[in-house]
Amino acid sequence: MESGQTRMLILGIETSCDETAAAIVENGKKIISNTIASSVDIHTKTGGIIPENAAREQLKAIIPVLQSTFDKARLTPDNIDKIAVTVGPGLIGSLLVGVETAKTLAYVWNKPIIPVNHLIGHIYANWINHNPSFPALALIASGGHTELVLLKSHQKIEKIGNTRDDAAGEAFDKIARLLGLGFPGGPAIAKQAAKIKTKNNKYNAYIHLPRPLIGQKTFDFSFSGLKTAVLREVQKHPPSSFAKTIFAYEVQEAITDVLVNKTIEAVQMYKPKSLLLAGGVAANQRLREKFELEIKNSNLGINFFVPPPNFCPDNAAMIAAAAEFIGKPRDWQKITADPGLAIEDKPT
Ligand code: KG4
Ligand code: ZN
Repeated sequence: MESGQTRMLILGIETSCDETAAAIVENGKKIISNTIASSVDIHTKTGGIIPENAAREQLKAIIPVLQSTFDKARLTPDNIDKIAVTVGPGLIGSLLVGVETAKTLAYVWNKPIIPVNHLIGHIYANWINHNPSFPALALIASGGHTELVLLKSHQKIEKIGNTRDDAAGEAFDKIARLLGLGFPGGPAIAKQAAKIKTKNNKYNAYIHLPRPLIGQKTFDFSFSGLKTAVLREVQKHPPSSFAKTIFAYEVQEAITDVLVNKTIEAVQMYKPKSLLLAGGVAANQRLREKFELEIKNSNLGINFFVPPPNFCPDNAAMIAAAAEFIGKPRDWQKITADPGLAIEDKPT
């Protein structure tokens, strides 16, 4: 803590999808306590998330997760200054569990409550233990979103690129399902791809996927064509387990090539001081490697930030951090879950 700064403790709550998460964060930077319960095992069995199952698991987990977060921090609700909660975007049943719990706690504990946009939360995972300078360009790559966002300040946030169809994480998930590699698809594909050690073209005979929209004058993304290309191949010849490994390798190469290429084009155009990666796909080791290499080789002179791999997917520390820097307390009675909230929308 900087001298003269008061100690502000925010309890963050995140339940937008299949993670039930709570965290206590000091001054938006220091994690005092962090808990994440995931219902992923249930979704692995169904091959994807069934929203009602996710919501039911959220309800079961929310109170134990909150209790564990306070226990680990050796704090009580009296020590907390504010509550921050994800209000959207996300699955409505899941969001409602966090939102209604947070409103109840704000009322009972008499604490201010701050609604937080989940996508903004992902970006602010980069402020934990760090201090990126503005202007900053952020790539958000998650299960539901692929967006390029320019932050001129904490208040001025502008979207410059969007996905036109499937998000990057969604493409990983759908293609992994086609190949029978399991759920969530990103880590499953990354694990297969890691089996290929030589990075050359000798596997092109098996499959070569397109790199959609590269070289075109847009910062938008499109990933649904990759899924269709893999589907066609799988329909032609059911892949052997070796072919699945090659497909996984090429899928990861194609998605990461597009993400890196478009983002670097945006860096060249907007010349930000910082580049931030965010969202579950930012945990991808190959993506991180490619960005590091590109930044080193191209002398862009930019400060590169990416959260530790366990703070790329959904967590509540990022929600508390976002609340610290840009959140505004609202009357708890006016706070509502909004599954379709866009990054440029003010949460209510
Ligand atoms: O940010 P997140 O946890 O949830 C959303 O807000 O959507 O992102 C989840 C997505 C999933 O599609 C998952 O497959 C992907 O992130 N993901 C990965 C990796 N870890 C998670 N994608 C590629 N490589 C990974 N290591
Ligand atoms: Zn997320």
